[in-house]
Amino acid sequence: MTAAQAAERLCSATCVARSASIPDGTPDPDAEPILLSVRGVSHYYGARLGCRDISFELWPGEVLGIVGESGSGKSTLLNLLAGRFPSSAGSIHYRDREGVLHEINSLTEAVRRRLLRTEWGFVHQNPRDGLRMRVSGGGNIGERLMACGSRHYGNIRRAALDWLARVEIAADRIDDRPLSYSGGMQQRLQIARNLVSSPRLVFMDEPTGGLDVSVQAKLLDLLRQLVRQLRLSVVLVTHDLAVARLLAHRLIVMRRGEIVESGLSDQVLDDPQHAYTQLLVSSILQG
Ligand SMILES: Nc1ncnc2c1ncn2[C@@H]1O[C@H](COP(=O)(O)OP(=O)(O)OP(=O)(O)O)[C@@H](O)[C@H]1O
Ligand SMILES: [Mg+2]
Repeated sequence: MTAAQAAERLCSATCVARSASIPDGTPDPDAEPILLSVRGVSHYYGARLGCRDISFELWPGEVLGIVGESGSGKSTLLNLLAGRFPSSAGSIHYRDREGVLHEINSLTEAVRRRLLRTEWGFVHQNPRDGLRMRVSGGGNIGERLMACGSRHYGNIRRAALDWLARVEIAADRIDDRPLSYSGGMQQRLQIARNLVSSPRLVFMDEPTGGLDVSVQAKLLDLLRQLVRQLRLSVVLVTHDLAVARLLAHRLIVMRRGEIVESGLSDQVLDDPQHAYTQLLVSSILQG
């Protein structure tokens, strides 16, 4: 049996196993095959552990939160999923729009770039890492459309204006560079740039980190709306359990590079089983 066939078999088996526990609002795994299947993935930076033996599945339309303290391996895992780092062990299978199953570690660079351009988004913690700071706000959005093959200037401009409105950036800022935007505006622009090309899967690393509370609340609201409207699948890294509760259907809790607990968000947060999750939850309550 090839690795792809094994993943295929695994996907259908887990779909059936999981179908009994789907709450309202979460996708029905029987209706669609798994989007992302992660099996026993590890990464080391030389001798230092990044993350170890990570396994989970992600369904279309589902938001999976990855929570855990600083240094627990969240960003490492996110980078592995998007093929930005190679895995030291394990496999990651992604099913594309055409239903083709790709193993992320054995992608050619051309296919990885195509997936990044047309199927995935990556929202960086620091918007400067995900934007071109010397290109206008509209250009940042348009560039992504052009990378997907759009050529008509009028259409690109219209789409840019539409997305600026969706992320509540005034139309008259379209020609300004993001350098002149506030931190919250830059983060919203980064989200618009990522979503304009209708990705199926978006990786987000602390998308609301570093923003003040009122800006954060508005951005969370926007993300919730977009996830629903666009049926996005999201892998959301956050150390903020309130953000995780608001956005994520399911959570995995990481500590020292490993998953210590996983489950439906409300279950994990309201009735944490592992001592470390209990500590995380109680430290938030006390804070
Ligand atoms: N480039 C690197 N070189 C060496 N070690 C690294 C590198 N990046 C991360 N690590 C180590 O890998 C482990 C996991 O780091 P990672 O950045 O994934 O954690 P994190 O959960 O994202 O933390 P944070 O919440 O602070 O962003 C840490 O021990 C970290 O020191
Ligand atoms: Mg990180």
